[in-house]
Amino acid sequence: MKTFVIANQKGGVGKTAIACHLTFFLHERGYKVLHVDLDPQANGSKTLSAHKSGITASQLFNAEPLSIAQSKSGLTLIEADAGLTQVERAENKVIATFHSQLAALAPQFDYCVIDTAPTFGLRMTAALIAGNFVLSPIELEGYSIDGITSMIKAFQGIKQKYNPGLKFLGMLPNRYSAVSPAQKLALKELLPKYASYIVPAKIPMRSAISEALNLGVPVWRLDKSSARDAGKEFKAVLDLVIQRSESQ
Ligand SMILES: Nc1ncnc2c1ncn2[C@@H]1O[C@H](COP(=O)(O)OP(=O)(O)OP(=O)(O)O)[C@@H](O)[C@H]1O
Ligand SMILES: [Mg+2]
Repeated sequence: MKTFVIANQKGGVGKTAIACHLTFFLHERGYKVLHVDLDPQANGSKTLSAHKSGITASQLFNAEPLSIAQSKSGLTLIEADAGLTQVERAENKVIATFHSQLAALAPQFDYCVIDTAPTFGLRMTAALIAGNFVLSPIELEGYSIDGITSMIKAFQGIKQKYNPGLKFLGMLPNRYSAVSPAQKLALKELLPKYASYIVPAKIPMRSAISEALNLGVPVWRLDKSSARDAGKEFKAVLDLVIQRSESQ
């Protein structure tokens, strides 16, 4: 099982939108996908509610053995629950528990996608220690960019100390608007400084993306003409993300 962690301590940058679309994308390609929602806001769990496993994410931090019935569809959700808030304040040893619980489920799945909350705390650390790849959605605006250096340092710290195999796939610009001078400028400033840390792609700002997430489908399944381009663009970006993971 290859595990993608979608992480950025900045809120509202598109972690959940991208995590859910990555899950749908891999599932449509015929893979068995486990989606883990570590954010008690549970937005992604709503989008994927048709695929509930009956297991909640806080159970992954508990040593009680888990068994997941193989879902017929091939897409399995471990949904966020209120208990995740207590997990954030638990002892560090639950990080190892999370790792071994995921490892025990690994033989049943090809991929795991972990959506995280916008806090660099215990749950995000656990996800980064258990994961293979980390992808960081970003928004090209001042405050979002300010946090980038500290985020990269934090990922590198985890890699050095606990998970040498962790690969940083890069920062993925989301909600891109080609007509925004501020965004263009931000990209121009960011590129020379962080070129090797940025996925060479952008997900444009498209209202069809939130509409689709509210309906529990990927944007390329939304039956309206405005979603057609959005779907194509999103798939092309996800293709590139998978290619980057395979070439690392
Ligand atoms: N490319 C996009 N175009 C339009 N809307 C988008 C796009 N990406 C995300 N959104 C919308 O922006 C909002 C925030 O996105 P999302 O919930 O994915 O961010 P997040 O990083 O998961 O937030 P949080 O940190 O709170 O978990 C949502 O309403 C989502 O549907
Ligand atoms: Mg989210």
